[in-house]
Amino acid sequence: MAKKKVTVVGAGNVGGTTAQRLAERNYADVVLVDIVEGLPQGKALDILESGPILGYDSNVTGANDYEETAGSDVVVITSGSPRKPGMSRDDLLKTNQSIVGSVTEEVVKHSPETILVVVANPLDAMCHVAMETSGFPRERVVGMAGILDTARYRTFIAEELGVSVRDVFALVLGGHGDTMVPLPSMATVGGVAITELLPEDRVEAIVDRTRQGGAEIVGLLQSGSAFYAPSAAAAEMVDAILLDQKRILPCAAYLQGEYGLNHLFVGVPVKLGASGIEDIVELVLTDEEVGHLNDSADSVRELVQVLHG
Ligand code: LAC
Repeated sequence: MAKKKVTVVGAGNVGGTTAQRLAERNYADVVLVDIVEGLPQGKALDILESGPILGYDSNVTGANDYEETAGSDVVVITSGSPRKPGMSRDDLLKTNQSIVGSVTEEVVKHSPETILVVVANPLDAMCHVAMETSGFPRERVVGMAGILDTARYRTFIAEELGVSVRDVFALVLGGHGDTMVPLPSMATVGGVAITELLPEDRVEAIVDRTRQGGAEIVGLLQSGSAFYAPSAAAAEMVDAILLDQKRILPCAAYLQGEYGLNHLFVGVPVKLGASGIEDIVELVLTDEEVGHLNDSADSVRELVQVLHG
């Protein structure tokens, strides 16, 4: 059986690291695309040459156009400008709208049946761009944010309590912005709610740090934004799709009535498998959490209006 094929668009830090993580999994050939000449080819060759050492034989190629991407099972779109210190994700809106729009157009020309995993920021708005440009059904356009934000939330909870991150379950819903919604009611350590384990002010501090998690990295790096955790999150989504894992993962999905929201990409738990988004999981939230989710949805809606303006 031929290997599956994944294309990663954008050979920056997020794209390059995503391509590396996927090649190392050894279940798919990887095509890395970027407009900068030599960059995707150079990174792809470097990843390919790691295969003999690490023991994988995925083919990895780089390209400046989309011919080689034809027939991709999944396409991860990471292209766009990253944030600079002091910039919000939303500042990137207009620049990345045109980049993600033209990338999507090229991608779907060569892979009309693919599933799009959107990583470019501002995330939820870029999902709209990818869906509108591709004309794909909502099952085949999914955004990466919730897994990343949840990983940060879990990291901070584990650190605070001195436990393994593996035993921390948590969820972050909403848009991938300052209004994201880390849910204290759903965060548990070995099955015990963190609200039982930590005083309210500590929970609040962790929630705040999670909301600022991306900015914290941008502030430290001073140039560029996070890429190790974002690429790990994107690769987990590709696993779920290509291996038909039916994982329940927080992802940006186009809502049609779920959570009382309509025609909007918002981060919610979805079932991710071979068809893409196979189901949307509706959680029972507290009134306060519903309020926060609606606020977060409002901020996504504002951005979408700017896109269409
Ligand atoms: C972050 C940026 C990439 O959250 O959105 O790190």
